[in-house]
Amino acid sequence: MRMKVFVIAALAFVSLVSVIDGSEHQAQLSEFVNDALFSSVSSKQLSQPQPLMVPITVINGAAAKGAVCLDGTSPAYHFHPGSGSGANSWLIHLEGGGWCNTIRNCVFRKTTRRGSFKFMEKTLPFTGILSNKPEENPDFFNWNRVKIRYCDGASFAGDSQNEANQLQFRGQKIWLAAIEELMSKGMQKANQALLSGCSAGGLASIIHCDEFGSMFPKSTKVKCLSDAGFFLDAVDVSGGHTLRNMFGGVVTLQEVQKNLPKSCLNQLDPTSCFFPQNLIQHVQTPLFLLNAAYDAWQVQESLAPHSADPSGSWNDCKANHARCNSSQIQFFQDFRNQLLNDVKDFSKSSPTGLFINSCFAHCQSERQDTWFADDSPLINDMPVAIAVGDWFFDRKTIKAIDCAYPCDTTCHNLVFK
Ligand SMILES: *[C@@H]1O[C@H](CO)[C@@H](O)[C@H](O)[C@H]1NC(C)=O
Repeated sequence: MRMKVFVIAALAFVSLVSVIDGSEHQAQLSEFVNDALFSSVSSKQLSQPQPLMVPITVINGAAAKGAVCLDGTSPAYHFHPGSGSGANSWLIHLEGGGWCNTIRNCVFRKTTRRGSFKFMEKTLPFTGILSNKPEENPDFFNWNRVKIRYCDGASFAGDSQNEANQLQFRGQKIWLAAIEELMSKGMQKANQALLSGCSAGGLASIIHCDEFGSMFPKSTKVKCLSDAGFFLDAVDVSGGHTLRNMFGGVVTLQEVQKNLPKSCLNQLDPTSCFFPQNLIQHVQTPLFLLNAAYDAWQVQESLAPHSADPSGSWNDCKANHARCNSSQIQFFQDFRNQLLNDVKDFSKSSPTGLFINSCFAHCQSERQDTWFADDSPLINDMPVAIAVGDWFFDRKTIKAIDCAYPCDTTCHNLVFK
C-alpha cells in the first residue's frame, strides 16, 4: 500500500513524481512535507512576510527550435531581476520533480505541471536561495534569479521523441533555449553566475555544469550547486537495483546518452553515466554538493520502495526515521558510507564544496526553513546559506561532513503521515 501524504502548509514544498511501473499502478505524485515536528517552525513562518511571488515567462521561440515540454507546449521560467551590487550576477535554478522512464508514465506526466505548460503554476514563491530578502538569503538576494521549469522528465538532458504517443523528449533543447534567452536578457554580461538545482534539477546541474561554464568568458566566475542531486546507484532493501532500473529506462527512452560526458561514456555504460558518483570526476567547473546523508527521497523511492518491500515492513521506518529499528538504521548508515566513499576524491579537489548533513531531508536550498533561518540545519554551527556563500565567494574552504545519525539535533527531517 502506498502512503498518502497530505500537504499541511502552503510552504514551498517539494514534490516528486514517484515512478512506478507496476501494471496496476499509475504514476503518482507524492508531496514531501513538513510534519508536526516543525509546527513551531511553520507557525513562525506564517508570521513572516509573504514570499515574493514571481510570474512565469514563456521562452520565446523555443518551440521553433524544437524545445518543448513532453506534450509539445512551450517551456518556461520565472525571473526576478537583480539590482545594486547583484545587477550583473546570475543564479539559474533548475526545478526538480522526479523522472519518467516509461511511455506509460511519460504519457501520464503530460497531464501534470511536470510535463506541460498548461498545468504549471503561473506564479511561484521565491524562497531560500531564490529569496529577495537579505535576511533570508544573505549572498544571492539581489542577484538576477531564475527558476527554469522542469517539463521533460529526464533532468533536462534527453533528446528524442515517440510519435505514436505524441511524446517529445527535449530536455537538452529546453536547457539550451532557456540559457540562450537568458543570455540575451543580460546574462552574457554576467561577472558571476551560479547554476543550481534541486533533486532531478540537482542532477541536471551536475550534468550541465561544464556546459554552463563554457558559455561564459574565462573572466566570469562560474560555479554549480547540486542540491539533493546525488542519487546513488545503491542496492535496495530487497537486494535489487530499483533506481538503476528506473534510470536505465529514462536514459534509453529519452536518449540521454547523447548529452552525457564522452569521458564517462568511454569508460561506462550510459545508465552509469547518469549517476553523479560517476559524473563528478568529469566536472571541471567548481561544484558544490549539498545533500542529506539519508536523503528522504532516496530512502522512500530508491532504497525501500513498495516494489522492494511488498509486505510493507519498512513503511513505518521510511515514513519516520524515529521508528526505525537498529538493523534499519544500520542499512541507512551503510548507504551514508557509500555516499561518503563516492565523494572522497571529489572532496580532495580544492574548488569543490560539500555540505552533507546527517538528516532525513530532501532539497534544502529552496526552502527557507532549511536554507537560512534561526533554527535552520547546521554543520559546525554553519547554516547551508553561509556554507554555499562562503564557498562561492572563496571566503572559506567548505568540506562539511556531519557526524553520523543521530548526532545532529538541527535537522529538519521530513516525516510522512
Ligand atoms: C527490523 O525491522 C525489519 C523489518 O520489519 C526486520 O526484518 C528486522 O528483523 C528488524 N530488526 C531488528 C534488529 O529488530
